[in-house]
Amino acid sequence: MRSRLEASDHLTPFVGRRIGAGLLLDCWSHAQEGRGGGVVVTAEPGIGKSRLLFTLHDRIHGRFA
Ligand SMILES: Nc1ncnc2c1ncn2[C@@H]1O[C@H](COP(=O)(O)OP(=O)(O)OP(=O)(O)O)[C@@H](O)[C@H]1O
Ligand SMILES: [Mg+2]
Repeated sequence: MRSRLEASDHLTPFVGRRIGAGLLLDCWSHAQEGRGGGVVVTAEPGIGKSRLLFTLHDRIHGRFA
C-alpha cells in the first residue's frame, strides 16, 4: 500500500472534477506526443488532490497498475 486511498477497501463514488480531470488528461495526451511538462496540483488539505490523481491513474493504467 502506497497511500491511504489504496489502503481503503471502499471509496466513495468519484464525483465532479470534470474540468480538472480534463485538463490533466490533456496534459497526459501532450506528454504522450512528446510535449511533456510539469503540473502542480495545490489546494487545501482533504479537498481531493490525491483522489483526483488516483482516479486519473486508474483510468489510464487500470486499478493499482
Ligand atoms: N471527487 C471526489 N469524489 C468523491 N470523493 C472524493 C473526491 N475527492 C476526494 N474524495 C474523498 O475525500 C477524501 C480526501 O481526499 P484526498 O485524500 O484526495 O484529499 P487531499 O487533497 O489529497 O488531502 P491532503 O492534502 O491531506 O493530502 C478521500 O476519502 C477521498 O476519497
Ligand atoms: Mg493527498
